[in-house]
Amino acid sequence: MQLTAPLDMHLHLRDGEMLQNIAKASAQTFSGAIIMPNLVPPVSTKEEVIAYKERILAAIGDEKFTPYMTLFFKPSYDKAFLESVRDDITAIKLYPAGITTNSEGGVSGFDVEELRPTLEAMSELNIPLCIHGETNGFVMDREAEFVSIYERLATAFPNLKIIMEHITTKESVAALDKYENLYATITLHHLLITLDDVAGGMLKPHLFCKPIAKRPEDKEALLKVVLEAHPKVMFGSDSAPHPREAKEACGCAAGVFTAPIVLQVLAELFENEDAPLENLQAFISGNAQNIYNVAPLAKTVTLEKKPFTVPSDYNGVVPMYADEEIAYSIKEITYG
Ligand code: NCD
Ligand code: ZN
Repeated sequence: MQLTAPLDMHLHLRDGEMLQNIAKASAQTFSGAIIMPNLVPPVSTKEEVIAYKERILAAIGDEKFTPYMTLFFKPSYDKAFLESVRDDITAIKLYPAGITTNSEGGVSGFDVEELRPTLEAMSELNIPLCIHGETNGFVMDREAEFVSIYERLATAFPNLKIIMEHITTKESVAALDKYENLYATITLHHLLITLDDVAGGMLKPHLFCKPIAKRPEDKEALLKVVLEAHPKVMFGSDSAPHPREAKEACGCAAGVFTAPIVLQVLAELFENEDAPLENLQAFISGNAQNIYNVAPLAKTVTLEKKPFTVPSDYNGVVPMYADEEIAYSIKEITYG
């Protein structure tokens, strides 16, 4: 099985030692990825974007991989600033304040008039807005409650491309077809697990993430649009590494580390579900190319049906399916 130019449209590469430890896990197998800006402090100036991109390129060494950079949304960004940074970024990521890891400086309240100058400038400059769509309501309802905010923004800024990041509910799936300018990324783990897998038996800290995995009917709604390669849906792993100590702790950090296994497990999932390979190709690359208007470098990943035992950890970060066997392995990566 071959996949060409895989793209990960939502990836946390971190910084410092963690960046050195995990960057290659994505850079080897993907042609490019949208890089999340939730560092400490968040990436919010032109200089920070450029410097972070350089640190990423240094960390991946000889791998051929494009980091598509993002800024951490602030309502204070004006048109002159956005024009000055337009060529350095692919999108801007908006976090509600305090909703997830390193999001304290995010947006509180979603007052359209307060956001208007920045969002209109983004529309004019054709900069997509990626949103972590959760309210601060009851944890299982946060995303469904946020759909009304997506709708408000989609209506108020009809020319702004809005990407509902890592959607986990049937409500978000339904919103996709109602508003022309709403798109979505979907992770691997939300196609595979529900809250039962996280907390239904012994607590599984390595499956704990934001948004929390939801109900079986939500997972089914996500699977449906992924397997049929709905053109507004893209793969975004939300691979979010934390050191083992931060996960196996009282006060477990949110985030699932999937980067080293995503392509293999997606191959297995599409096979098990009898879905066409061309739909996997669209989900993993084609749809993102259309939505973001990017032309990724040609990289072909050949997968073979050969069991692979997932390592216990990658430099101290425990991946999804650690110590378990998955059905597909990566056989070869070629360029051109
Ligand atoms: C992410 C992280 O650790 O940066 N965590 C997560 O659970 N997904 C942040 C995020 O995307 O919410
Ligand atoms: Zn994320």
